[in-house]
Formats: sequence, structure tokens, C-alpha cells
Amino acid sequence: MDISALKAKLGELEAEATRAISEAKSADAIRSAETRLTKEPIAEALAALKTLPGEQRGEAGKTINATKERLKELFAAGLAGLREKAVAADQAQAGAFDPTLPGPVTARGALHPVTIVQWEVERVLSGLGFTVVGGPEMETDFHNFEALNIPATHPARDMMDTFWLDNGWLLRTHTSPCQVRAMRQFGAPLRVCAPGRCFRYETIDASHENTFFQVEGLMIDRNISISHLIAVMRMLLREVFQRDVKVRLRPGFFPFVEPGFELDMSCEICGGKGCATCKQSGWVEILPCGMVHPNVLRFGNIDPREFTGFAFGLGLTRLAMMKFGVGDIRVLNSGDLRGIAPAGRLAGETIVERVGARA
Ligand code: PHE
Repeated sequence: MDISALKAKLGELEAEATRAISEAKSADAIRSAETRLTKEPIAEALAALKTLPGEQRGEAGKTINATKERLKELFAAGLAGLREKAVAADQAQAGAFDPTLPGPVTARGALHPVTIVQWEVERVLSGLGFTVVGGPEMETDFHNFEALNIPATHPARDMMDTFWLDNGWLLRTHTSPCQVRAMRQFGAPLRVCAPGRCFRYETIDASHENTFFQVEGLMIDRNISISHLIAVMRMLLREVFQRDVKVRLRPGFFPFVEPGFELDMSCEICGGKGCATCKQSGWVEILPCGMVHPNVLRFGNIDPREFTGFAFGLGLTRLAMMKFGVGDIRVLNSGDLRGIAPAGRLAGETIVERVGARA
């Protein structure tokens, strides 16, 4: 025998196996075809090897091995196919589809805790007539500092070190740049809120991150006073926490408000007893606020003799921690579902509603 005759024979063997499998009505039929078409014929082919000229034996041997493997695969696939057909036939016969069996369970996603409180705050403020606006995360020095009454040499810049970009811009340190942008775009009277991501050059610990979320609030009109500010803040916190939360006001300094306040709320993590999140004080700084500084109004092309206003910068990340009892801010920027998902699930019902409402 020569090598081409051997190859032709092996090819026939494969063709025959395919035919036998397609005709087989039972697993036994497939198994007996396998015995018939592999054992002897392969042994014969191997024996024929010896009759070939030496230089052809390598190639012939490889072809025989490949055929052997291929036959094995064909018969295995044939058996599997037959099994599937049998199961399907069985089910059809017995009416085996049971609609009462539970379907495959897919893990349900949830919104991020920060998104949940952000939407909640947007909802409450929208109800009070505030428009939701945005602003760029990459800001100019002018909007982030200058127009907020923080000139280049002002020491307040030290509290807000950030990431500077090659083009002289920076990653915004707060959402306050949205104030002047909104004033210039819409003029007075004005009611806007601007949620968004902020950045600072921070030493990271349980309550500080280099990336966090705030929502800016700004209300400008004739005769706006501190009592408007307090009323709006209390209503906002009451709605978010669904109960009256204890708050306190302290004087606070921000160059863009005068007077300025720090609004603290009792720590929801420890119930006011003192923990790492509240630095053992029982209070968490949650809402810096104040009356918009006349210089800022001027930068926004609004006449401070006619209009006054208040502004606040609510820490959304901190609010989410309080609302959902997340003790460590780092969890919220991580992908660790053990920390993030329970909060989302807690608010599960609201999520679905809210998604529908925004769609
Ligand atoms: N932008 C300030 C901060 O991030 C907060 C603030 C906003 C203070 C509005 C007063 C008024 O610290």
C-alpha cells in the first residue's frame, strides 16, 4: 500500500463513521459502530505503516493518529446529541415543562448609595423650585477660586489643594464654581442646585477621600435672609432622613459667604456617642453654608444692592454614609459590594420607582 491509498482509506473511515452516527437510533448502535470503525481499521492502518517507505512513515503515522482522535470526537458528539434528543422527547411526551418551577435567579443590581441620596436631594430641592444644573469637573482657576472671592494669594486656597492640570486648569475642589456659572447664565432671581464630583489633595482616612460628591445649592432673590437658609436646610435634612435630625450651627469661614456657617448634624453612625467617623465628637459637619458674598454676586453680574442670596454645599458622600450607616468613606469609592450593596438594597423599592421616574 502507498501513502495516498492509506489516506484515502482513513478518509473513508471518517465518512462512514459520520454516516453511521446519523443513522443510529440508539446509544448501543453508536457504540457498536465505534468498535467496528475504530479498533480493527486503525490496527490495520498501523500495520500498513511498516510496508511504507521509511520517509513516508512519519507523515502517515500522524494522519493515523489524527483520524483516531477525530473518530473519538465524532462518536462522543454523536452520543451527546442522542442524549439531548432523548431528554427533549421525554419532556415533550410527559408535558414536562413545569411553569411553577422558579426561574433562574439573576442577581439584582442596585444604585450606588451616593446616587440614591443625590436623587433624593434633587427631588426635595426641585419641589422647592430649584433647577438641577451641572458644571465641569475640570475647572478654571477663575470659577473655582477667583470668582468665589479667593484671590491667588488667599490662604483659603491652602484648605483646598487639588490636582492641577498642565493647561493651568484644575480638578474642582467643590461644586461652588457652579454658583457663578449659573448666575451668569440665568441671572437673578435664581434657584439652582448642582450635584457633582469634587476632588482634593487629601490624606485619606475614614472620613476623607481625594474624590467625593457634593451638591451646591443657591437661592438668590430680593430680601433673602438667613431664616430662608435655615428653613430650606431643615426641610431638606428632614426629607432625606425621614425624621427630624438634630442640627447645630457654628460660625464658619468661607470667603464666598458672609456670614458663613457650619451646619452639623448628630452622628447617625454612633447615635452621637462618638466614633471614628465623627472624630469622637458625636457631630458630623455636613453642611457649610452662608449668605452669598456681595463680591461673588458681582462676579455673577448680579447687583448686590438689589439682590441677596444664600448658598450651601452639602456633602453627598458624607450624607450617604450617615443615611446608610457606612462607617468608612473609602468603601464608597471601592468596588466592595459588601459595603455598598446593602445600602442600595435597603432602598431597593425606592430605586425602582426613581429609575422609572427619571426615565
Ligand atoms: N464649597 C464649600 C466647600 O466645599 C462649601 C460651601 C458651599 C460653603 C456654599 C458655603 C457655601 O467647603
